[in-house]
Amino acid sequence: MRIVLLGAPGAGKGTQCKNIVAQYSLLHLSSGDILRQERAADTELGQKAQSYMDSGGLVPDEIIIEMMTKAITNAPAAGFLLDGFPRTVNQAVELEKSLADNEMTIDFVLNLHVDDDIVAKRITGRRSCPKCGAVYHIEHLKPKAEGICDNDDIELVQRPDDTPDVVANRLKTYHQQTEPLVDYYRKNGTVYDFDADRTPVEVRDSIFEKMNALVKA
Ligand code: AP5
Ligand code: MG
Repeated sequence: MRIVLLGAPGAGKGTQCKNIVAQYSLLHLSSGDILRQERAADTELGQKAQSYMDSGGLVPDEIIIEMMTKAITNAPAAGFLLDGFPRTVNQAVELEKSLADNEMTIDFVLNLHVDDDIVAKRITGRRSCPKCGAVYHIEHLKPKAEGICDNDDIELVQRPDDTPDVVANRLKTYHQQTEPLVDYYRKNGTVYDFDADRTPVEVRDSIFEKMNALVKA
């Protein structure tokens, strides 16, 4: 299976990806996580991406497309789940070309809906593990020990782009540049919409129900 997961910042993409990849044995490819790893390792790519990420804008297409096509090439046969990529129509077109070169296509697109005011609350309460990338929330998804990752036993951190001003800009960027992608994918009839303003478990179950039906079809 080759899947794209769309949704605004804070819609719960990362949270649901963890569930989906565990259930269907897929590789989770998050462009945001890869960029953060590059930044942590202080690579040339990480340095180039820094100012765009910190302001809530998009990293230029050519950088992202090269980074993600390389990651996809190394994906296992079982398939992958793309989180945060593509994020512009141009990225989607280039992804399609690159997959076509390897006789592959995207099987379906999952789209998480949530209102902007909910996003702000979710994002300011988010805490992440700097090692494994696990995502928590100070109210909705608490770790077993406060402030500590369940998997790695290290202190959770807040993302530098999770401040109110940057979140507002990320939402603006999403509506201007990424939302048009939903219509782009809708034209070929592969988009499945989910109300993400429910508990993480309810959202997960609605995704599993749809995916199980798609896998059987
Ligand atoms: P990226 O890392 O992709 O960030 P994003 O799209 O802004 O999305 P988030 O990771 O903030 O949210 P999420 O939907 O994953 O939510 P989460 O599950 O964590 O990108 C970061 C930056 O990198 C971009 O701004 C850009 O600069 C650059 N970039 C990345 N990809 C790019 C591309 N393709 N092109 C160009 N630039 C690119 O959940 C959020 C919080 O809510 C958590 O605390 C979670 O516990 C909680 N939560 C989740 N679900 C629920 C629920 N149902 N109920 C209550 N709380 C919930
Ligand atoms: Mg995420």
